[in-house]
Amino acid sequence: MGTQEGLKLVERDESGVDTAFRADVLDGLSQPQKAIPARWLYDDAGSQLFEDITQVPEYYPTRAETEILRERADSFARMITPGAAVVEFGSGSSVKTPLLLSAIEPGAYVPLDIAGDFLRAAAADLARKFPGLPVYPVEADFMRRVELPEEVADMPKLGFFPGSTIGNMVARTAVDLLRNMRKTLGTGARLLIGMDLIKDQAVLKAAYDDAGGVTAQFNHNLARRINRELDADIPLDRLHHEARWNDGFARIEMHLVADADIAFEIDGQRFAMKRGDTIHTENSHKFDRRTANMLLLAGGWEPIERWLDAGERFSLILAEARPTPGAP
Ligand code: AVJ
Repeated sequence: MGTQEGLKLVERDESGVDTAFRADVLDGLSQPQKAIPARWLYDDAGSQLFEDITQVPEYYPTRAETEILRERADSFARMITPGAAVVEFGSGSSVKTPLLLSAIEPGAYVPLDIAGDFLRAAAADLARKFPGLPVYPVEADFMRRVELPEEVADMPKLGFFPGSTIGNMVARTAVDLLRNMRKTLGTGARLLIGMDLIKDQAVLKAAYDDAGGVTAQFNHNLARRINRELDADIPLDRLHHEARWNDGFARIEMHLVADADIAFEIDGQRFAMKRGDTIHTENSHKFDRRTANMLLLAGGWEPIERWLDAGERFSLILAEARPTPGAP
């Protein structure tokens, strides 16, 4: 079937701690530049805080991408064959997915997500909004190749990966994901992917350090989660949120910066930070047309169309998994 059944998606120890979370935190904080994989930002509180971020005035990506989906519906309809199975990498947001599904004439909707409860809620919501559209949720880690339900085997496939989530990954991981998407969807499939654009640094930094402090709360929530789940005593009041633009890598980095020399314990292990040392908690890579195209090509996807919002802040790119061409 279309699920990775039998495969444990989250492993917990006797005390209910996510073992991958503990390993990532202990390992990441033992490095010279402390760093924790961004996916741990998104527990229930973190996911809610991210929803709040999408509403703050400085955070433009969600509004810009939604604008494209809303304003360019006729253009999508021309480019995308009716009857396609829309395979969404992630559970699907309440706003963007319906916009895409109403713009085209989908044959089925297949949300893929590792979080079963979010997945089922999003699938039920979509099924209610689109009566008559077959919805086949698949609980799986979409970073790997996923077996799709056989009901969609004969439909053309359209992958959907909005939000510039690809920008959270370093290039090597992004390319692995794109190549696995190609394996999941098959040769001839298409992919509609959101990629945020390189722009004025002040605009970028404000988007990741809003005046209302919601992004700061989102970042701090990670340290709070470590304290709660891993029996730690990180002094939250001595770490401040910082959004940095890394120009060479074209990315915004989120850091928790120590305001003083501090020490703390996690799970019985001792850690120290000097004033000014940071814990790197997230990357958000930004692209221009060429770097976006290069990344997609490296992952086996040939760009065929590109749409921007009126303010030219965000791009939605349609790409195709062409049969491997011969040289040159
Ligand atoms: C959900 C990963 C796309 O990078 O813009 C927002 C996450 N982090 N503000 C992004 C985020 C801080 C967001 N993504």
